[in-house]
Amino acid sequence: MISWKIEEVGFDSRNIASNGNKFLTGNGYMGVRGTLEEFTKENLVAVNLAGIYDRVGQGWREPLNAPNGLFTTLRIDEEEFSILKIQPYFHRCSLDYRKALFSRNTVWKTKRGQVEIESERFVSLDEPHLIVMKYSITANFHADIELITGIDGDVWDIHGPHYDYLSLSIKNNDLIAVGTTHENKDKVYVVETCKCDFVNETNYSVDDKRVLRHVSFITDPGTKYTLTKWISVFTSRDDTGCRDESEAVRLVEDCSMKGYDHCRNAHIKKWEEKWSVSEVIIEGDDAAMEALNYSLYHLHSIAPRHARSMSIAARGLSGQTYKGAVFWDTEMFMLDFFIFTEPEVAKTLLRYRIDTLGGAMAKAKHYGYDGAFYAWESQEGGYDACSDYNVTDVFTGRPMRTYFKDKQVHISSAIVYGIMKYIDITGDESLLWENGAQGWKTIIECARFYYSLLLKKLDSDYYEIHDVVGPDEYHERVNNNGYTNRMAKYTFDTAIRVIDLIDRIQDDLAQKIRSEYPVEQLREKFSDASAHIFIPRPGKDGVIQQFDGYYDLEDATPSILKGRLLHEKEYWGGAYGVASNTRVIKQADVVTWLAMFPKDFPVETMLANWNYYEPRTEHGSSLSACMYALLACRCGYPDLAYPFFLKSATVDLIGGGKQWAGLVYIGGTHPAAQGGAYMTAVRGFGGLDFEDGKIKIKPRLPKSWRSLRFKIWHRGRLYLIEETGESAKITPVG
Ligand code: BGC
Repeated sequence: MISWKIEEVGFDSRNIASNGNKFLTGNGYMGVRGTLEEFTKENLVAVNLAGIYDRVGQGWREPLNAPNGLFTTLRIDEEEFSILKIQPYFHRCSLDYRKALFSRNTVWKTKRGQVEIESERFVSLDEPHLIVMKYSITANFHADIELITGIDGDVWDIHGPHYDYLSLSIKNNDLIAVGTTHENKDKVYVVETCKCDFVNETNYSVDDKRVLRHVSFITDPGTKYTLTKWISVFTSRDDTGCRDESEAVRLVEDCSMKGYDHCRNAHIKKWEEKWSVSEVIIEGDDAAMEALNYSLYHLHSIAPRHARSMSIAARGLSGQTYKGAVFWDTEMFMLDFFIFTEPEVAKTLLRYRIDTLGGAMAKAKHYGYDGAFYAWESQEGGYDACSDYNVTDVFTGRPMRTYFKDKQVHISSAIVYGIMKYIDITGDESLLWENGAQGWKTIIECARFYYSLLLKKLDSDYYEIHDVVGPDEYHERVNNNGYTNRMAKYTFDTAIRVIDLIDRIQDDLAQKIRSEYPVEQLREKFSDASAHIFIPRPGKDGVIQQFDGYYDLEDATPSILKGRLLHEKEYWGGAYGVASNTRVIKQADVVTWLAMFPKDFPVETMLANWNYYEPRTEHGSSLSACMYALLACRCGYPDLAYPFFLKSATVDLIGGGKQWAGLVYIGGTHPAAQGGAYMTAVRGFGGLDFEDGKIKIKPRLPKSWRSLRFKIWHRGRLYLIEETGESAKITPVG
């Protein structure tokens, strides 16, 4: 039995940033960091919004944080009681991640007696625009209380301020904040309404940052006084195209009429629906089960169910880090979870890529290539938010030239991989052909992109790809990165598959496609490219060289390099990085290739590469450990995989991951690692695979796991997979 609960007892201000991630609540539309009600932007409070961005001057373009409608603080006998100022007698915050409820309980001792506050809040899964909070006070004496609660518009920004104009007002019992962004004059509407179950005197105050109500009353000893807040958040970028605050007002009024319990029950019911499909049950290892389902909680909390075409940022909805941008993390690490448990979400994620094909084609053109070169850090419209100088040098304080944006060409193949994976597992081809969705075009354009990258030496039979950055970002501008070339080959093969499919679809569309593309010629070109692209082969020792010349670099280990650092936040890659001229890599690279294409080589080769690269891998990206875990499972070594799996699954539970790349803050939640943990559980340990359209299971459970149970959607049907030891049962359940 697992508790489905995490909690922290006692207050330590050093944990504020990591608790913000650990206790995050969200519903895909917005994410509310796990901060306390009295916190402000200095404590990294954020109501982070999905898919709406702003840029101020030359600063980085980043997603918006909405004005914080949860803000609440307290005066007792005219003294402010904030946990930041007055050490509590007792404090606990907890997250019930089965029900997605955050709660807090704090007791202070004052000169006259004891005061306890309890709060519970949730970001409704039932209503994407809604946050609800209940806040109670109990004193054991006649305390003179002033509760100050409302909307704090002084939001945390990394590259802001993003609201050029913030209007704050009070209408009836509603507090209203409307922010207008700098770049596109987008609007963010936040409305808060409040109900008290006790008699009080309420006053209001407004300044240029906050609109607040001041609720005053005297407590009767032992009586609990409860205030409930309903907060709605809308933006002019919503699919429904919100034009003013009226919708936001309507929502809080409607929900406050229905009451707290009603909203809470509806929210919990929605979460139960999610868990009824996605819960993974591990008998014999509660710690793993807890960490894995906690990871799934995070993936559910950031799934964009409210939109038709939207993806997930690398740091989810935990703030503005990584510019709220979408990376290959979604397709290569998170997608399995959604395909298996909620295929509609997977489709929404992929539609985002298909819909941003224009941006990818513009990027390819900009660099002088054909086809579609997807954004390394994708924002709306496929705009690449990655800057040419993406890391700040700790020694000089100057921006460093990095090549993530212009050379990490493997990104386009991840999109192709994601689309085809979705189609193969769900059997749903609509992404390829559906109205307006041009999956076919996306795939063909990605193949055209790689085709235009191919180089051939005059006396060689091979095509090569030069000057790239592979998954291991510490080695920039390398030639023939094995992962990249293999993914390019996969893209050519997939484009050929799609061209073959065109013959099968309705005439009109086929005709249109043929009029736009010389498909027969493309088929020939791509076949030739696939047959002749250089794919590095294993050497005598079975090891595949990561890129041309990798073996010429100094052989070192991460711990040797740590000893050479002159500064703890120093960047390991780039021109002068400690790793750049050594064989130490940032994250799984060849190993990612082998984990994704387990049929390419025999087990001995996969194992040889695992053994060679692991001691040379810093695991400086949270995307690394799960790939090692997955490959170890594929080699038949679940116990070797286990610590890597646990590292992925506990990434936000334990916290402490890398917080800095040079001087750039990169903290937040790690959805790719969470998705990777799921992938390892079901595909690695669970041995889930597909052959000829059928589910195939080959259990490889770690020693301590007595059994593993999970459900997956496959071709429109829900299946329960039950594994014990080496036996497995697949039962259709819906
Ligand atoms: C990793 C990338 C990853 C990005 C976002 C970087 O540190 O090297 O592979 O896509 O973080 O998670």
